[in-house]
Amino acid sequence: MNKKLEFQRLQDAEMKTAAQSFYTKMQRRRTVRDFSDQSVPAEVIRNALLCAGTAPSGANMQPWHFAVTTDPKIKIGIKDAAEAEEKTFYTQRAPEAWLDALAPLGTDEHKPFLSTAPVLIGVFLKKFTYTEDGKRLKNYYPYESVGIACGLLISALHHSGLATLTHTPSPMAFLNQAFARPKTERPYLLLVVGYPEENCQVPAIEKLPFEDIVSVVGEQTQEYFK
Ligand SMILES: Cc1cc2nc3c(=O)[nH]c(=O)nc-3n(C[C@H](O)[C@H](O)[C@H](O)COP(=O)(O)O)c2cc1C
Repeated sequence: MNKKLEFQRLQDAEMKTAAQSFYTKMQRRRTVRDFSDQSVPAEVIRNALLCAGTAPSGANMQPWHFAVTTDPKIKIGIKDAAEAEEKTFYTQRAPEAWLDALAPLGTDEHKPFLSTAPVLIGVFLKKFTYTEDGKRLKNYYPYESVGIACGLLISALHHSGLATLTHTPSPMAFLNQAFARPKTERPYLLLVVGYPEENCQVPAIEKLPFEDIVSVVGEQTQEYFK
């Protein structure tokens, strides 16, 4: 069964303005590591999560689960577990090259933001969907699908005026227990959400220019992009 697509066709001028202003807005997104403890409106979080749920996914299996908490006890539990894992990562497990790549970001095993930030979202990936009648259905392209959903979630939160940190404590198995999720779901990342602390600093990093991330293929295309 199909239904009519509700496509919103814009005029060229509107499209250009929309594309420019979205890019300008997204350019301002930065990963924040110093959060204020100020609470954020639940409605904003709810809509951002709904936005994540609109993501495309392999065979529309929607292989994601978002576990959200504002509970101080749960956040402290996550902080303690993450710091324990990260301590062994930074002092024992991380190869030298990885530590070198992280050095400009100034990250270490201390994760105070996990209890300071008002909202933590645990993102879980489901390799299978279990139906109510006990069937196990394979999910297609779950990694790609969940990655896209996370991109929408981060963009929606940024668009709504909130800052995020994409956190991947290594390993993340403790998140199943912290968020009371079954072992069949794989922790994918932990999104820290809130307002930046006043005078928050971020690493002075640059994004690659267009020419370095895009190849314009074919003479006609080169003409098109002129
Ligand atoms: C999959 C992924 C995992 C990340 N894990 C961490 C992390 O564990 N800790 C951290 O401080 N930043 C983490 N980051 C944030 C990156 O360091 C950050 O996105 C990058 O330095 C670019 O900065 P920007 O987000 O401000 O553009 C992660 C980002 C991604 C996409």
